[in-house]
Amino acid sequence: MGMPLYEHHLFICTNERDESASRPSCLPLGSKKLKSAFKDALKDAGLKGRVRANEAGCLDQCEHGPMVVVYPEAVWYGHVQPSDAEEIVREHLGKGRPVERLRLAESCVNNDHCSHRNGAKAK
Ligand code: FES
Repeated sequence: MGMPLYEHHLFICTNERDESASRPSCLPLGSKKLKSAFKDALKDAGLKGRVRANEAGCLDQCEHGPMVVVYPEAVWYGHVQPSDAEEIVREHLGKGRPVERLRLAESCVNNDHCSHRNGAKAK
């Protein structure tokens, strides 16, 4: 038998737009620091070989950044701060209990008419 497969993938948006763009972006909100915080938390929790944290392009939830999505369960987290990484790793990835206070409302996911968007289209 080889190495076990990854159980979760965590995607952290590190997209950066022009300052003149009509939508905000996650990188200026600190998503690189967030990625390091996740890497550290996964290592500390002993989950390094079971959960993979990757940078992602725009997840189209820019008004809620920094954005993180966890697969395979498709749990979307918004406004995630480095100080939240440990809790997401411990509760969600370690114990299977998503961190409800950081979850994006279902009405925002994959919805062009999400009230946070002000009608702006992704660029
Ligand atoms: S720029 Fe991060 S979700 Fe769009």
